[in-house]
Amino acid sequence: MNDTTTVRILDHRTPEEREREFLPGMGKPWLLPLYDVFSRFSRVRPLHERTVALADIAPGQSVLDVGCGTANLSLAVLRAQPAARVTGLDPDAAALRLAARKASRLREPLTLVQGFAERLPADDGSLDHIVSSLALHHVPDEARVRFGSEALRVLRPGGKVTIVDFGRADGAHGRSGRGHSAVAANPHTARNLEGGLLRLLADAGFTDAREVAHVEHRFGPITFVQATRD
Ligand SMILES: C[S@@+](CC[C@H](N)C(=O)[O-])C[C@H]1O[C@@H](n2cnc3c(N)ncnc32)[C@H](O)[C@@H]1O
Repeated sequence: MNDTTTVRILDHRTPEEREREFLPGMGKPWLLPLYDVFSRFSRVRPLHERTVALADIAPGQSVLDVGCGTANLSLAVLRAQPAARVTGLDPDAAALRLAARKASRLREPLTLVQGFAERLPADDGSLDHIVSSLALHHVPDEARVRFGSEALRVLRPGGKVTIVDFGRADGAHGRSGRGHSAVAANPHTARNLEGGLLRLLADAGFTDAREVAHVEHRFGPITFVQATRD
C-alpha cells in the first residue's frame, strides 16, 4: 500500500495471467478513451460518492479498489478521505495509465496494480477496506468466487467490503424499474440480480452480507452491498 505522494503502477500478474483475457470497461479496448466522458454523462460519480460514504473510511486506513479502471472510485475515496492509503487494481494497462495521469495531475497519491480480482495484491488480514464499482459483473463466475475468498483473506477482522454494481437483493424493489430488462438480458449483469452479490459474499464466509442501498439508475437497478470480516 502506498505511503508517499507519488503515483505508481505495479505489475502483479503471473506469466499465465499476462495471457488472460478480460472484459474491458467499455466492452472493447478501443473505446477506452471515451470511458470517462461516458461515465460523466451517465452520472456515475454520485454512485462513487455514495459508495465512499457507505464505506466510511477513516484517516490512515488502507483501501483496495477492485476493477478500478480509470480510478474514478479511487479518486472519490481520496477526495472524501485524503489521508486514506488507496490502491487501485485492474487488468487493463491502458486504463491504469489514464488513472495514473489523472492522479498525477490532481497530485493524489495512488498506487495502481495491474492484476485480477481473483488474486488480490495484499497480505492476509492487511486491509481495512475493499471497494469496487461496476466491476464485478466483468469478472467470470469462477473468478468471482475466488474474489470472495480473497476479500475475506486480505481484510483484517472488522475490515469492510463495499460493492456497487448493477443488481438487486432478493425480492426487493420489484422487477419493473427502468433498465431492469436490459440488466436481466445481459448475462454479465444478470448474475447480480436476485441477490447474486449477497450470495457471492455469504458463500465466501462473510456472515453479515447485506444490501445497504439501492438506486434505480437510468441504465438499470444498482445495488450497494456491504459485508464485514468477522
Ligand atoms: C465498467 S469498468 C468500472 C471501472 C471503475 N470501477 C468505475 O467505476 O469507473 C469495469 C472494470 O473492470 C475491469 N475488469 C475486468 N475484468 C476484471 C477482473 N477479472 N478483475 C478485476 N477487474 C476486472 C475492467 O478492466 C474495467 O476497468
